[in-house]
Amino acid sequence: MPSYLEYCPNADGAAVRRLHEEKQSWINQAKKGFLRYRLPLQELQHLQASTLDLTGDVVRIGRRSDLSKTDHDRVLKLMRTFMPWRKGPFSVFDIDIDAEWQSQRKWDRLLPQIPNLQDKVVADIGCNNGYYMFRMAPFSPKLVLGFEPYVQHYYTFTALNSFAGLDNLFVDLLGIEHLPLFRRCFDVIFCLGILYHRPSPIDALRDLYRALKPGGCLLIESQAISGDQPMALFPEKTYAKVPGTWFVPTASCLHNWLARAGFKEIKCFCLHPMSSEEQRKTDWMVFESYQDFIDKQNPGLTIEGYPAPQRVFFKATI
Ligand SMILES: C[S@@+](CC[C@H](N)C(=O)[O-])C[C@H]1O[C@@H](n2cnc3c(N)ncnc32)[C@H](O)[C@@H]1O
Repeated sequence: MPSYLEYCPNADGAAVRRLHEEKQSWINQAKKGFLRYRLPLQELQHLQASTLDLTGDVVRIGRRSDLSKTDHDRVLKLMRTFMPWRKGPFSVFDIDIDAEWQSQRKWDRLLPQIPNLQDKVVADIGCNNGYYMFRMAPFSPKLVLGFEPYVQHYYTFTALNSFAGLDNLFVDLLGIEHLPLFRRCFDVIFCLGILYHRPSPIDALRDLYRALKPGGCLLIESQAISGDQPMALFPEKTYAKVPGTWFVPTASCLHNWLARAGFKEIKCFCLHPMSSEEQRKTDWMVFESYQDFIDKQNPGLTIEGYPAPQRVFFKATI
């Protein structure tokens, strides 16, 4: 039974337990793709970091001197197995992992707006490898539950937190579509970089609304297009080469979506253009990145000829 359920008394515990067990038995099958994460991790799970520094841009877990040369080489190999690293930066036993996204910049934009997290029950929807969850940890939340349906990211977080040993951070193989199982469970929900991947953003916002406790707070960030009109772009196939992009709203459109989903005290606190400094190829993410998604002749357009992406941030309560 997932132990995080004890902090979510209103959750549909039976359904969450069933789902959790199904997912665990699915990843425990001897599937080749999962074994390459699971087996080396099992061999290294006894390793513990002597230090944690979660207060700077880089999430620092452990020191080089914590490990023998053999174990350090094995951790390095495991970290390379988790490539491509999309979110970071991390330093794991002094192995510097420069991820595609400089996620500390998003965190810095959020930080002044984040309510007091002490003893709060928090969800991070689409948490990836848990970079932001580690950044939340110094604020002493009771629980941060990361929803992340992708096994690669799940194992990356599991490895990082097995070294870090933080017992208030959990990731389960859940998607935003499982939020209806968590009615009135969370004091704060982070939903970053998810909404434009949802075919029905209004349903997603309503599910976020219902998963918050009375007085709860949503921090949401989305890809956006520029413009004053409340409109959304609906790309033919891909947007900035990313398939599975459905609606890309203007800031005022997202404001209206939030209002019509029932949110109150809706505040847009940041809108900024994307850049190839913030999202770029590194030694830990060797595939195409932002500069390949944008029209080289006209950086105001994506490769498909759509308006280039911005990022918009809202805070809202229920
Ligand atoms: C664009 S990334 C955003 C990651 C992170 N929240 C951030 O803002 O940097 C989208 C994340 O959502 C995850 N994801 C994919 N499908 C999802 C779903 N149905 N529900 C929740 N997360 C999902 C992806 O695996 C990925 O980690």
